[in-house]
Amino acid sequence: MIVMGVESSCDETGVGIVRWHDDGTCELLADEVASSVEQHARFGGVVPEIASRAHLEAIVPAMRRALAAAGIARPDAIAVTIGPGLAGALLVGVAAAKAYAAAWDIPLYALNHLGGHVAVDTLEHGPMPPCVALLVSGGHTHLLHVTELAEPITELGSTVDDAAGEAFDKVARLLDLGFPGGPALDAAAAHGDPRSIAFPRGMTGPRDAPYDFSFSGVKTAVARYVEAAQREGRELPIPDIAASFQESVADVLTRKAIRAARDVGVDTLVLGGGATANSRIRSMAQERCATAGLTLRVPKPRLCTDNGVMIATLGAHVIAGGAKPSPLTVATDPGLPV
Ligand code: KG4
Ligand code: ZN
Repeated sequence: MIVMGVESSCDETGVGIVRWHDDGTCELLADEVASSVEQHARFGGVVPEIASRAHLEAIVPAMRRALAAAGIARPDAIAVTIGPGLAGALLVGVAAAKAYAAAWDIPLYALNHLGGHVAVDTLEHGPMPPCVALLVSGGHTHLLHVTELAEPITELGSTVDDAAGEAFDKVARLLDLGFPGGPALDAAAAHGDPRSIAFPRGMTGPRDAPYDFSFSGVKTAVARYVEAAQREGRELPIPDIAASFQESVADVLTRKAIRAARDVGVDTLVLGGGATANSRIRSMAQERCATAGLTLRVPKPRLCTDNGVMIATLGAHVIAGGAKPSPLTVATDPGLPV
């Protein structure tokens, strides 16, 4: 069985193709991604209208490139992200997937984007045992409990304000590091002392929800620090600010993820989403998983960011699990819960 996955929930137009094997593994046949990230840079964030228009221009060429790369004329099924994501952006991928499913007379599967971020790890590391997944990107911050990829996923917690990647981008902007700011902030932090400034750890009090996150407090604390330094005419210690901010975010993310894994009784933690490229989030997750006796699974950066392969891989698991196809009338759902 060969499955095509279509992803257009944010600023990446992704078309991926995988082959499902009966031993429960997927083989990557094609991975085409067109990103509109550069078109959003001067606005300092993703502009929904620009993203939708870019998807419209990119989607059919991406499908053609994926088919050519896989060396096939058509797949056996199409899986598509119906949410969560930007309304107009989702519509483009879903309309394209429906059109191709109808034209090729093959089944369509409507999927949740978040499950894809977990499923994609199986391409590199094999079948997924029950796990807790920590998803961190510019659009989402979620702790999920996954028992079986073909089954519904339970959300343990999520951010109550900014997504983790969004906080990186906003703090990078405060420090004039450009957009997307996450990679630049990570690089600046490499030369700083993570213990130099005590930024707050959001939602870690005894009365706070154990698996929810808040990053607006640490972001505001950085803004206050910058304002005070400017008022007093002090030079900004950018590497120290970046390292201390990054330490706060990585600390809260990994602390809560490990606690969740312990509480639900799994021995695997999976990371996903573009912000898992962050060097400190990775290294701290590695250290803390080793201490807690947990196995850490992290897909390579290329597969952590949004792509079509993750939707194809989730689709293959869902189909193999016996799910019924979705009707061609299936709607997008920008606020789709897990
Ligand atoms: O998954 P992704 O490519 O797109 C979505 O947001 O869905 O994630 C992009 C986010 C951006 O906020 C970016 O700043 C952040 O991931 N990011 C990083 C790093 N690389 C990317 N954040 C911190 N450190 C990094 N090295
Ligand atoms: Zn994503």
